[in-house]
This record gives sequence, C-alpha cells and structure tokens, in this order.
Amino acid sequence: MAMMWAGRFSKEIASDVNDFNSSVGFDARMYRQDITGSIAHATMLAEQGIIDRAESETIIAGLKGILEDIKSGSLEIDPNAEDIHMFVEAELTKRVGDAGKRLHTARSRNDQVALDLKLYLKDEIKEIAGMLRELIDTVVSVSEQHLDTVMPGYTHMQRAQPITFAHHLMAYAQMFARDLDRLADCFSRTDVMPLGSCALAGTTYPLNRRRTAELLGFSDITLNSLDGVSDRDYAIELCSALSMLMMHLSRFSEEVILWCSWEFKFIELDDAYSTGSSIMPQKKNPDITELIRGKTARVYGDLNTLLTMMKGLPLAYNKDMQEDKEAIFDATDTVKLCIKTFIPMLATMTVYKENIRAAAAKGFINATDCADYLVKKGMPFRTAYKLTGTLVAICIEKNTTLEQLPIEEYKKLSEKFDSDIYDAISLDRCVMTRNVEGGPAPEAVKAQIAELKRRIAGIEI
Ligand code: ARG
Repeated sequence: MAMMWAGRFSKEIASDVNDFNSSVGFDARMYRQDITGSIAHATMLAEQGIIDRAESETIIAGLKGILEDIKSGSLEIDPNAEDIHMFVEAELTKRVGDAGKRLHTARSRNDQVALDLKLYLKDEIKEIAGMLRELIDTVVSVSEQHLDTVMPGYTHMQRAQPITFAHHLMAYAQMFARDLDRLADCFSRTDVMPLGSCALAGTTYPLNRRRTAELLGFSDITLNSLDGVSDRDYAIELCSALSMLMMHLSRFSEEVILWCSWEFKFIELDDAYSTGSSIMPQKKNPDITELIRGKTARVYGDLNTLLTMMKGLPLAYNKDMQEDKEAIFDATDTVKLCIKTFIPMLATMTVYKENIRAAAAKGFINATDCADYLVKKGMPFRTAYKLTGTLVAICIEKNTTLEQLPIEEYKKLSEKFDSDIYDAISLDRCVMTRNVEGGPAPEAVKAQIAELKRRIAGIEI
C-alpha cells in the first residue's frame, strides 16, 4: 500500500510495521469527530480565502457523503489504513479528486488527533454526566422510601450508632454529585480547541482559529501551539475523575455484596440482576457488583497507563501518545457499562426493613445516647461514658440489651437513671434526635436531598 508520505521514501512500509503502527483499529470510532472537524476546517479555510470557496464546498459535500456512508455501513473503514485521519482524507481524495488534497492545508494530524479526541471526550463526558444524574436520581428515590428505616451505622465494620438506610444511601449520592462536579470541571478544560497548532509550530496561513472553535462549539482556543498538540491532561483528568467514580461505585458494590449475604440479608437483588451457580443450587450471587468492583481495577490501570505514557515525553507530539486512545476509551466504555447496569439493579432490589432494624437493635448502637442521657442530667461525659461501658458489659453478661435491662440495674449504677431512659435510648428516638444539618434524622435527610437536588441542578454539563 502506498503511504501518504511516499514522496520521501523509496520503499513501502513492511506490512508488520504497518500493523504495528496503525491505530485505525481503535481510532475508527472517532470518524464522526474527524469528519466534523474537517468540515469546520474547510469552511474556515474558504472564509479566510486560503482555499477556493467552490473547492471547500466540494470537500464538504464529499465529507458529508463519507459520513453518511460510514454510518449506513456502505463504506467500510479500511483496516490497513494508518489511522482514521488518513483513511478519511484518502477516501475524500478518491471521491472528489484534487480538492480533497487541499483539505490538509494548514493542519497536521497532530492537531487533528487532539481535536478529534477532545470532541469525542466532550460527548463522552456529557453522556456519563447524564448517566450519573440518573444514578443519583435512583439513589434519591430509594432513599426517599427509607427515611425512617433505622439501620446500624458502622465503623471498623462494627455496629456503631443508629442511622437510617436513607442516610446511608445518600452518602453515595453525595459522592456521585462530587463526581458530576469533577466531570463538569474537566469538561471546561477539554472544551479548548487545539486546531491551528498544526504539527507543533502553528502556521503561516492566516487562519481564524476562533471561527473554527465557534463552528465546532468550543468555548476557547489553546494559546500555545506546542501545548496544543502535546497536551493530554484532559484525558488524564477525565480518567482520574472516572477512577474516583469507579472507586465510589466499587465501595457501594462491596456493601451491596455484604448486604446480600445471609449474614446480613438487608437486601435481595432482583433475579434479573443476579446469577446462579453451576453446582450449588441454592446460590444467588451478586455477580454484577463483583464485576464492578473488579472493573474498577481496569480504570485505575487506564489512568496509570496514561500518566506513565506521558511522563517522559519531550515536547511536542510523540507517537507514544497514540497509546492514549485505547486507555481512555476503555475507561469511558467501562464506566458507562457499569453505571448502566448498576442503576436498574439498585432500582429493583428488595430492601428488608425488618432485618435492617433487627441489626440495629443489637450491638448497643444506642450506648452513646445512654451516656448523653446522663450528661444531660449533669454528669461529665467521661464519667457517663465509663458508666455506660459497665452497663454494656452487664448486658453482655446477661445476654440482653440496653432497651431490655431492668431499671433496677440502671439505678444500681447511678441514681440519675429514671424510667425515661428507655425513651432516650429507643432507636427511633436516637435517630429522630440526630437532626443536626447533615445528620440521619428523617427531616435532616429530607433537607439533604433537597439541597443536593438544588446543587446538581446548578452543575452545568
Ligand atoms: N494516529 C496518531 C495518534 O493517534 C495520529 C497522529 C499521528 N501524527 C504523526 N505525526 N504521526 O496519535
């Protein structure tokens, strides 16, 4: 196959080297962005009088035809092409002749690939942001059904203090809201148009880069041609934001796995979102969540690939950077797949309120409230803390709970105890009275939900 640069060479490229060098196998997915970018470039070139208006029109019509044909499947992307940029240009020239050869005036594949990737990732960011909003909505709607489902909150995986299932779930909504914010932030830096940087040193042609940016819907243009072609921060930032998002999804998955176990039985996943075992007939496995936990590793790997690939590169473009695409595409694909599967799994799960509540009734999660009761009656906190510890030890010895321990036992330790202790340590009361802003009381969680909705509505993306 004769390469685009055949003029300088006396031999054709070895076919193995062509395969090794080629990126079309994975960058073909940017064909739409590549063609859209070229249409804007050709439009601007004609407006600036750099190419003839009629030729620009021929180029644009040719590019639109190629776009349609790739979309409809009537034009197959040649797997032997070096990359999507070379393929589109060669196909254009095949279709419209000499005019096609003018398209690449005042452009290099170096700024072209940066443009295509930014266009592609802008769309991906928007799509993932939309999915995240849906995920947050789902978490919120499950939470709204469990504002008073009392649950033990844990530290060190030990029952600690009473919260509600809604409050616990809403912690994840907060994480996802931050993820959304990070995506919006990373979008703003992806939204900067690099075309016109050319190979590395700009061009002598009188380009109107701001016009190209306007045609393509970019908010700004890059201000340094070397940086324009050698920057991949936007892909790394995105991958980092996605790694964090996956870390959140993975923690959530881990809890779903625990909650599905017979030891917890807080929830049960719908049959459509569970799998069985090939040997153990009783099994119902939370494979989806395990896979999400596993796939988190891939996305971290992608981030590591990008960071390591960039760390030693001198300015400006180096072919190493072709390795960016598989990593960032894998990251966005993986995240989309995971969120898409997680949402309906969450929406269809059964929540066993009674089991959650029963777990809250054990484990002395109202011990702090018992100590606080004494503090409110004038005892210093440390003294109350120690005394309550003794009460817990008595309960453990008698195999009972603070709620069931007779008042005489309480009074033996302190005269401050009265029968109102039972009200003070009732689980519902312990939750209801934790109504500090950000706390688990149903009213506080309602306020949390309202505020979160307001904040994410304000995130523009
Ligand atoms: N396929 C290349 C990439 O993905 C396009 C840019 C190639 N530029 C070059 N000078 N070889 O990075």
